Amino acid sequence: MVFLNTIIYYSHSSSLIHSCYPLLSLIPVYLLNWKSLPRPIIALSPMADMTDSAFCRVVRLAAGSVQLAAPKFELNNLAASCSLPAAGYPIMFREMVSSEAVVRGNEKTLGMTDIHPDERPLVQQIFGSEPATMAESARIIEAQHHPEGFDINMGCPVYKITHNFNGAALMKEPARATAIIKAMKAVITVPLSVKIRAGWSDKTECFEFAKAIEDAGADLITVHGRTKVQGYSGKSEWDVIRQAKEKVSIPVLANGDIHSPTLVPGALKQTGCDGVLIARGALGNPWFFRDTADVLAGKEPVHITLEERIRVVLMHARLHAEQHGQGGITTLRKHLSWYFKGQPGVKEWREKMMKMTTLEELEEVLGQMMGVTVLVRRTS
Ligand SMILES: Cc1cc2nc3c(=O)[nH]c(=O)nc-3n(C[C@H](O)[C@H](O)[C@H](O)COP(=O)(O)O)c2cc1C
Repeated sequence: MVFLNTIIYYSHSSSLIHSCYPLLSLIPVYLLNWKSLPRPIIALSPMADMTDSAFCRVVRLAAGSVQLAAPKFELNNLAASCSLPAAGYPIMFREMVSSEAVVRGNEKTLGMTDIHPDERPLVQQIFGSEPATMAESARIIEAQHHPEGFDINMGCPVYKITHNFNGAALMKEPARATAIIKAMKAVITVPLSVKIRAGWSDKTECFEFAKAIEDAGADLITVHGRTKVQGYSGKSEWDVIRQAKEKVSIPVLANGDIHSPTLVPGALKQTGCDGVLIARGALGNPWFFRDTADVLAGKEPVHITLEERIRVVLMHARLHAEQHGQGGITTLRKHLSWYFKGQPGVKEWREKMMKMTTLEELEEVLGQMMGVTVLVRRTS
């Protein structure tokens, strides 16, 4: 079976997946080849506490021709009716995990690297500063969960990450950064990518750094066109990304400020990149990738009705509860605020949702909302 130039083979695994899905004794694994994947490459950017397994599954389902207007809420029906389009099928970059926690055998962290088959192909991002620890963590994750690729976080600006040579701090330590790449490449069998920023404070720092990463053996680079100092505000400089792309011969993905599917063609053109990595644009909008496929095909994206939005939120809530347990449902609130941000006429419901502490409470609010929207639609 060949899909998007990725070859699917099957691998025996003792993954947690099998305890959840006992009939799945074989896991499909895609051979991800960044060089030969059809262009443009469209991917979901890693986002801590956001791009967990549940959200990646929702993105995958919403990117396919999921029957969002199906009359029932049953998750299995939705999943079963999902078919995969040839275009707009995003590669998932899973949220970062700590290499040290993986090597220490921290169960929660290892659990974060479990992969549901719906999410594949998936790239697991790791952060850390010690080459041997980074390599060992990748080896452990690959043996247990077989991600289709690994990504190194060299862009996180948060102090708790950077103060110890992790994340964006590695851009100031090219020797350490390249040692990490070499150590990881020596033990993994899948491609290795690196996500960097334009620089620490100077937007030209990425030019030399990108070349060093390529020379160390990285298979792909993502450039976020903001500096570490900018954090998440200010502009992502697409021209800087283009100049970084010109410095290397490995594929490069552009990242930052691609917040709407209609911006994708312009970002691709201006950066000259092989693809894009979509971050905040996909929060509350898992349809981003299906819409991007439409835009790239010259079609108008399909309007998402409030009813469809509610159905997908419900699906997301159930997957979230499946992953994090009933007690973990409150962590869905940050997704809920993205889903309903700027939606007219939902203020009262939104406030109720933000107070929910169980899945049942949320289902009740969504059910009431659905009743109201269906009624409004029928009478209007
Ligand atoms: C809540 C949040 C969490 C993030 N976590 C990660 C992460 O774990 N790893 C990473 O490389 N980037 C992380 N990022 C950065 C994004 O992947 C992306 O590079 C950045 O948001 C710029 O893209 P945007 O302007 O399209 O949002 C995070 C961003 C946000 C908003």
